[in-house]
Order: sequence, then C-alpha cells, then structure tokens
Amino acid sequence: MGNVIILGSQWGDEGKGKIVDLFSDRFDIVARYQGGHNAGHTVFIGEKKFILKLIPSGILRPGKQAVIGNGLVLDPAALLAEIEALESAGVEVTRSLAISNRAHVLFPSHRMMERMSEGRPGRVSIGTTSRGIGPCYEDKIARRGIRIADLMNPDIFRPQFDSVMEEKAVIAKALGIYEELDLPAIRDQYEGFADRIRPMVRDTALLLNQAIAAGKTIMFEGAQGTMLDIDHGTYPFVTSSSASAGGACTGTGVPPTRIHGVIGVSKAYITRVGGGPFPTEALDGAGDEIRARGKEFGAVTGRPRRCGWFDAPLLRYTAAINGFDSIVITKLDVLDTFATIPVCVGYRIAGREICEMPPTVAEIEKVEPVFECLPGWQSSTFGIDTFDALPAKAKDYLAFLESRTGVEAGCVSTGPERKQTIVRPGSRFEKLVT
Ligand code: GDP
Ligand code: IMO
Ligand code: MG
Repeated sequence: MGNVIILGSQWGDEGKGKIVDLFSDRFDIVARYQGGHNAGHTVFIGEKKFILKLIPSGILRPGKQAVIGNGLVLDPAALLAEIEALESAGVEVTRSLAISNRAHVLFPSHRMMERMSEGRPGRVSIGTTSRGIGPCYEDKIARRGIRIADLMNPDIFRPQFDSVMEEKAVIAKALGIYEELDLPAIRDQYEGFADRIRPMVRDTALLLNQAIAAGKTIMFEGAQGTMLDIDHGTYPFVTSSSASAGGACTGTGVPPTRIHGVIGVSKAYITRVGGGPFPTEALDGAGDEIRARGKEFGAVTGRPRRCGWFDAPLLRYTAAINGFDSIVITKLDVLDTFATIPVCVGYRIAGREICEMPPTVAEIEKVEPVFECLPGWQSSTFGIDTFDALPAKAKDYLAFLESRTGVEAGCVSTGPERKQTIVRPGSRFEKLVT
C-alpha cells in the first residue's frame, strides 16, 4: 500500500471511473493529473449514476481529498456546472476539492480555434470531443497560456487576457473561422468564475508532497488512455496530454521516487471513440453486439464507440510504457454471449511478424492482426464477485490474456456497480490497493 497510479491501457473508457471510485476509500487523496472535461467517467452507486469529467472520481467518497493537478486544462464554466450537479445530488465538493494554481484555464476561444483543425477542408479530422482541449494545451506549450494563478489576480489577468484574445482574433479572422465573441463580457464572466473557485485554489504540489511526508496515501487517476497519450499513442489521433504513467509526476509535482505502483485498466475487449487506426476493430455484427451489450456510447459526446477484440500486442506495449504491476479487466460480462472470442496475439505487416508498435498511422493501418479464437463460456458472469464462481472458460480466457500480455489480471469487473468486482487473493493488485 502506497501511492498508486490507475490509468487507461487502451483508447480510453476502460472503466477507470468505476475502479477509482471503488478503491479510493483505501487512499487519503485522489488526484487527477492531465486532460480536462474531455474525460467522462461513469460511476454507479446503487441506482445513482454520476458522470465525472474534471473532478476526480474519488470525490464520491465522503471525507477524501480530491485534487485537480497542474497538468489539467480547466474550463471554469464546466467545473462549476459539474460541482453544481454533484452538490445537488448530495455530494459535498467545495470543501474536498483542491485546484492547482498552475493548471491552465480554458476559454471559449479554444473551442473556436479547435474548428481550425477539425472543421477546415483538407485537414485530417481527429474526431475530438470539441471541448477546446487541444488548443488550450497548444497555448500552454507555446508559453502564452493563462493559468489559474493568473486568473486569481485581476491586475495580471486583464492585460494577459486582452493581449491573448487580440492575437486569437487576428488568427481566426485570417483563417475564416472567426466568431464574434463579446470579449469584455467573457473577461467579466471569468473574473466571476475566479471568485467562485478561489477558495479551492492551492499549491497542490505542495499539498500532495506535504501529505506524503505526513504518511498519507495518494491514488493518481488517469483520464483517456495510453494509446491516446500525446507521445506514446497513435499520433496524431491522440489527445493533447500525457495520459500515461509519466504524466502523473509532471501533472501533479509528485516525484517518481514517491510512487509505488501502476495499475492499468483494460476492457476484456477494446473500444475507441473518434478517428484513427484500430487493428482489431470488429466491423461485422460482432462489433455491434459488443456495442449493444456494453452500452458503448460516449459518456461526453454520446458518439457510438468503435468496438473490437482484445489486442494483446497493444497491451504489451502499454504495459511496457507504464510498467504495469497489474491490470484490471473490466466488462467481462459483456462477452457472456459469444460462442468464440477472438484475441489478437500478434501483429504482421506484409506477412512479417513485428514485435513493436509501429510509430505511424500508415503502418498501423497496414497491421494484420493474428487472432487466436477462444471458446466462449456462454453463461452469465454479470455481478460475480469471487474468482472461483466464474465459469471455467472465463477463467481460461483471463489466464490466456495474462499469458499473452505478461501482466497479472489482479482484478476483474463483472458489472458497473461497486460490488460487481473480483479482487484476486494474493495478487499484486491486492497488495497495492488494500
Ligand atoms: P472511463 O472513462 O474509463 O471511466 O469509462 P466510462 O465510464 O467512459 O465507460 C465505462 C462504462 O462501462 C461505464 O458506463 C461504466 O458504468 C460501465 N462499466 C464499468 N465496468 C463495467 C463492467 O464490468 N461491466 C459492465 N457491464 N459495465 C461496466
Ligand atoms: P475518458 O477519460 C475516450 C478521444 C477523442 C478523440 C481524441 C482527441 O473518458 O477515457 P480531445 O477532445 O481530447 O482533443 O480528443 O481523444 N478522447 C477520448 N476517448 N475516452 C476519453 O476519456 C477521451 N478523451 C478524449 O474521441 O479521438
Ligand atoms: Mg470515459
């Protein structure tokens, strides 16, 4: 038991929200380290459904400290709407949430700029969530971003806002994507947001490091997934942040020497939302069956998710990038009806077996997945909460995934609710989170 990162090992939507919510009661603090309100983490507590976007899923545990780290881009309007929705559902947020003074502020102009890359003829559309996430990170890296600490101080914020917005208007006009924005009104509105979020703003790197020194434990909650990571994902069909384990350090200010484990969350199959290469995509009826059974529609945008079979080479790659100690296999129950279940065990390009993840979209699109077909168990695993109670063929399926990825499946999820979960006794997972 120590400080542990829990993150997505595929293209997002692996069920991180459920897993973080479930195990966050074992930690003192839950910290998000990257992304923004492009994330959509669905958590069921009994009949109640919560969708967390910017706020760590650990907020649903009373008394836990939740942290929005410096690595996030924060749309204050989206944050306040999320706080309001949670508080009206009886969840206390403002006293439990700390927001980094070094996180970057997202403005309506970022959504306008996103139209440049997503809507213009001749540009490859990524199929983003249209939240302005990419353009906000662009400003951060270009060193013209406005941070929460700037927003807190009107003397710093006003001139910075005016000069950044003037520049954006010139670019947007030149590109023909200009949209009349009432800039003085937006500035006033953001100053109003500043007053509302001020009580939550902190130096969260200091808070986290002091908490560690005092013997408290932290769970780091990843958003998106490793294959959407800006460096390690299927570039350019990725998000604009460091979703993999390294991002937990840069995105919170907690050093690698204070992190004790990394857990990957993976579906028993795989999905992706938006464009980009997808070697094991099931374009036949099986993909539709997975989508229908798994309710695979985006939590943020409602878009149907593309569905396919478990990709072991992809997981070997993301296990290497993140150093997974253990993986959580979610949504095993979705495969209950299949007579046979293909699993991709290798990649070939032009008939030649390859061991690495190709770096370019053009090459990944040429990948011929090598499938092995496993017999399905064709009985319900929904809600099963002990390993022994699983059908033998479901156990064999999990053992096969372990053997082909080289990582233990220390936890298995068999339904959206907290209790529909198996923790494997004696696993590294159990040691890290209990
Ligand atoms: P996240 O973004 O990684 O948190 O995942 P999402 O919340 O976007 O998508 C996962 C969806 O699957 C949510 O609707 C969850 O309620 C649901 N879910 C999570 N685990 C399970 C499971 O084991 N079985 C089933 N049937 N649904 C699950
Ligand atoms: P969670 O945290 C799945 C995808 C978008 C698009 C690409 C870039 O719920 O797993 P962006 O708006 O980030 O610039 O879009 O990334 N994407 C996600 N896909 N789950 C997510 O989050 C995602 N967040 C972004 O669909 O392909
Ligand atoms: Mg999601």
